[in-house]
Amino acid sequence: MARVFSGIQPSGELHIGNYLGAVQHWVKLQRQHDCLFCVVDLHAITQPYEASSLSQRTIDMAVGLYAVGLDPQHAIVFVQSHVPEHTELNWLLNTVTPLGELERQTQFKDKAQRQASVAAGLLNYPVLQAADVLLYRATLVPVGEDQLQHLELMREIARRWNARFTNNGGFAFPEPQALLSTAKRVLGLDGQAKMSKSLGNTIGLLDSPETIWEKLKPAATDPARVTRKDPGNPDICNIFTIHQGFSSPETQARVAHNCRTAGWGCLDCKRVLADNMIAALAPVRERAQALQAEPSGVRATLRAGAAKARVLARETMTQVRRCMGLLDAGEA
Ligand code: TYM
Repeated sequence: MARVFSGIQPSGELHIGNYLGAVQHWVKLQRQHDCLFCVVDLHAITQPYEASSLSQRTIDMAVGLYAVGLDPQHAIVFVQSHVPEHTELNWLLNTVTPLGELERQTQFKDKAQRQASVAAGLLNYPVLQAADVLLYRATLVPVGEDQLQHLELMREIARRWNARFTNNGGFAFPEPQALLSTAKRVLGLDGQAKMSKSLGNTIGLLDSPETIWEKLKPAATDPARVTRKDPGNPDICNIFTIHQGFSSPETQARVAHNCRTAGWGCLDCKRVLADNMIAALAPVRERAQALQAEPSGVRATLRAGAAKARVLARETMTQVRRCMGLLDAGEA
């Protein structure tokens, strides 16, 4: 079985971009592979954040992941900071990571230009991401398209580390591959930028039916469809991309036909989407409410996940320390 690793930041609500781009895929993969899924709180602190709400947001993200169907019986779900080997490997990998590659990362450049003072942690963000995956020697990483550059750098870091240190004992990191879903880039409701927690253009997975409809009603569609009588093009409509995540193939075909022939207006199309989305998400909200009522149970499940992850992480670190020539504490 291949080993799969992926992560999500607890920097806001779980939204349908995360869900269609990555998390829905995770739920399927957990029954086919050996999976680890991580709430990456240490990544979330690389930008200005509210310390007083971070632990609650971490629990909320875990609740969302369990509610959409991640099952601790099938996948290891844990919080990044509960396994300190992530930061240890991060440091060791920093020593083989070219600074120029970090400065070239588009996510770094985007985030850095929005800040008056840029912390070194933001620059090193992709190295911690490489450590997350390489710590478990995972080979498959299900992510949205925005993570591809980080994945390429991760492979480069693995190659450089292997070239420098593998000779000292035969241990090597595999080069991880990205796994993209069909909805690899869901746009926000503005139809302009990627749907993103920080841009406020999201539909939350746990939003109420009323909120879902209120958000969908004004959402951007095919920009060339100006009046109700104009035929539309589903291929360039973000609402149709979302239909593909929530509506049956028959409904998608009906929606596409009625759009192209101007049989329906955009609002008709959105009403069908809202109904399907609300029906799909009702059981998710219900499970989330039940989990939220028992936060100590969620914390215990996360602790158990971290304990399992740590066993694997320690095995890797023993090899990595040895290959890099660090003195074993036991030999001192
Ligand atoms: P994050 O928290 O931004 O997003 C989590 C996952 O959701 C995907 N995603 C999207 N996919 C399609 N359309 C969208 N609008 C959209 N928005 C988000 C992201 O691509 C991601 O897969 N750096 C990562 C977290 C991370 C990680 C890792 C991922 C840390 N360590 C190791 C993989 C492996 C991030 O910021 O995800």
